[in-house]
Amino acid sequence: MPAIVVVGAQWGDEGKGKAADLLGGEMDYVVRYQGGNNAGHTVVTPDGEKFAIHLTPVGVLTPGCTPVIGNGVVVDPKFLISEIDGLAARGVDVSKLMVSADAHLVMPHHRALDRVVERYLGSSRIGTTGRGIGPAYGDKVGRTGIRLQDLLDPKILEKKLQLVLREKNQVLVKVYNRKAIDADAVVDEYLEYGRRLEPYIVDTCLELNNALNRGAKVLLEGAQATMLDVDHGTYPFVTSSNPTTGGACMGSGIAPTRIDSVIGIIKAYTTRVGSGPFPTELFDEYGEHLLKNGGEYGVTTGRQRRCGWFDAVIGRYSVRVNGITDLFLTKADVLSKLDRVPICVGYDIDGEPCDEMPMTQTGLHHAIPRYEYLDGWSQDISGCRTFDDLPKNARKYVERLEELCGAQVSVVGVGPGREQNIVRKELV
Ligand code: GDP
Ligand code: IMO
Ligand code: MG
Repeated sequence: MPAIVVVGAQWGDEGKGKAADLLGGEMDYVVRYQGGNNAGHTVVTPDGEKFAIHLTPVGVLTPGCTPVIGNGVVVDPKFLISEIDGLAARGVDVSKLMVSADAHLVMPHHRALDRVVERYLGSSRIGTTGRGIGPAYGDKVGRTGIRLQDLLDPKILEKKLQLVLREKNQVLVKVYNRKAIDADAVVDEYLEYGRRLEPYIVDTCLELNNALNRGAKVLLEGAQATMLDVDHGTYPFVTSSNPTTGGACMGSGIAPTRIDSVIGIIKAYTTRVGSGPFPTELFDEYGEHLLKNGGEYGVTTGRQRRCGWFDAVIGRYSVRVNGITDLFLTKADVLSKLDRVPICVGYDIDGEPCDEMPMTQTGLHHAIPRYEYLDGWSQDISGCRTFDDLPKNARKYVERLEELCGAQVSVVGVGPGREQNIVRKELV
């Protein structure tokens, strides 16, 4: 059985958590492959219980499924322990969790630098989640990172931390006027985390490939999304990892040849948290409609999400960059009761039409959306379970998005609940 990827197609918060949870029931393993506790994935179980999960793959909620934190994730161990304890306290069995020995750790200096650098950037700030994600990936690429496996070797941990803090403390104290971090205290703190996490630390790459060889089903669950990808997103207003499909291979150790399908999670409109260009952003009562009816408040930071119409340029781009085989369109129910529903079909940039993602960031900043207006529908669609149950105009909206994005919409989400979907084609 090959591996399946779930990837965010816009700027995050598309409903990846719900989609991964839905598919998790069919899976033997669910693997997070990048990001850290900057993510916030909401799952509403059939008995109405709501979970907000940040670092652990949502497969943890599915009995029998093995949740895996892959090598591409950056792990804040204190946060992970609190998430494990929080889930266990709610009756979730966390005993099968596996964490890659190669995953990098978020250290106290990463969190300190994330916050202070943002403050110094002033109006140019990225609007990060302040979880230390960018600095942790920076050290990984800069070869000064510390990994989960280092927690198992006190001498190595101490040596690596002393070395890296020699530079980071200079930066914190002399550049940013902050307090130096005491290496000994951090070593003691992190060795304690190591003792707690040791039972979960595994060679996950070997485990997953052996599982695939045995015929197991593996779901690779992305955090963030395509437009936040450090290579393919709206750089520099991105996160510091690769949420796109390529990142799923790197962040899990599963080769591209083993991936069979890529499910793009795409919202029926667009949202974004943090700074950066957003051509279809709304500042009027329609934006308010999406914010209020969609409950668009961040799961991690509680920030109000910026809201706008569906952008088919981004949809097409995401299908291309990720090799999306199926789209899972979420939150179609939020568009009910609008007189008409605009879709951005292309941009005008400095007087020139442009139907694909502009080559330059300046181009995207100058992009003015060109809209096609579809008639809305007044009915509440949250109870619809087949495509034919949907009002005609809602069906037309879905079909037009398919056409514009160049991929089939296999599932339409009509509510946050696990069962609130219209499945047009089985995904597994
Ligand atoms: P993620 O980060 O991609 O997992 O998404 P979030 O959990 O941050 O945000 C998506 C929100 O939309 C959550 O509150 C979900 O419960 C909710 N949601 C997901 N699918 C649907 C849907 O089809 N309709 C509605 N109304 N809400 C949905
Ligand atoms: P999920 O997985 C939406 C955004 C932040 C900021 C930028 C960089 O729930 O979809 P970072 O802390 O990663 O360095 O911040 O990325 N961001 C997200 N936006 N959903 C997320 O995750 C996000 N994770 C990071 O708001 O603009
Ligand atoms: Mg989210």
